[in-house]
Amino acid sequence: MSARVTVRAPAKLNLSLAVLGKRADGYHELDTVLLALPLADELVLEPGAGAADILEVSGPAGAGVPVDGSNLALRALDAVRALARVRGLAAPALRVALRKRVPAQAGLGGGSSDATAAALGACTLFGLDPDLPEVAAELARLGSDCPFFLRARASGVARCTGRGERVEPWPALVLPWTIALVTPGFGCATGDVYRALQVPSKSTPASFERAGLGSDLTRDRARLRNDLEAAAERSHPPLAAFRARLEALAPGTFRLAGSGSSCFGLCADASEAEDLLARLAASEEARRYGLRGSWVLPARSAPADPPRSKVQ
Ligand code: C5P
Repeated sequence: MSARVTVRAPAKLNLSLAVLGKRADGYHELDTVLLALPLADELVLEPGAGAADILEVSGPAGAGVPVDGSNLALRALDAVRALARVRGLAAPALRVALRKRVPAQAGLGGGSSDATAAALGACTLFGLDPDLPEVAAELARLGSDCPFFLRARASGVARCTGRGERVEPWPALVLPWTIALVTPGFGCATGDVYRALQVPSKSTPASFERAGLGSDLTRDRARLRNDLEAAAERSHPPLAAFRARLEALAPGTFRLAGSGSSCFGLCADASEAEDLLARLAASEEARRYGLRGSWVLPARSAPADPPRSKVQ
């Protein structure tokens, strides 16, 4: 085998995230609509020279990303290799070059997306079917957002329930809006956010419908929902000040992405998004906390291209 495979690992945000309750296993029952974004990491996988997988990280969000077994991408390779070997497939050690653009601890699903992309790339190199239920089960164990990145890769948008493992892919979504996305200098630890959550005994049912999206910006902004916002602010106090600044700049526009710390808002067009992000960059909060990135993105789901192979 002498091939090289390139896979994109998109970021996601949650258009709606309803927490329905706490489960006996400690996880939370969710009803969430996830959107893959045209902001992505890129992984290049090829057979390596040694006996162990090697991960090399570069890119604007690469600083501090672990390259040992704590990285979910390497754990995904181990899982896929085991599945390949029991089927008698050759599954050599790989060298993975990860170009990181999606910041970590940002609520954008970067770690889960990298793990899923690594698994998809390894499946291509090893000749394993990525749609085997065992691949999905292994990825679900690694991260709650992995099933979304795996099962909804054709359209980039889905409603996910359970812990996130029940995925109902939606057809691609194209809204006539622009997303302003910003990640402050600090991160949010997902486990801490969930631990700070006070789950109401009677939660409001999720009601995020696809029908009617895209016709009225004010109504679409009002439909965005994230039940983790208060818990994320309680567990990460700088987030409260950061979100208050966004609210002052554009009332009712910004929501938290996943468990944070990124925030996103739907804007009428790119110039409104750029103007909001420029005013945020000039704010006291941007100076105090720093910004790890800000992006102006079309409000449409980003389907993943199938892994691109190049035989050398
Ligand atoms: O699965 P993942 O690693 O993304 O989750 C990180 C942490 O977030 C979990 O350890 C758990 O504490 C919490 N979580 C949860 N309910 C979910 C997803 C995550 O409580 N549905």
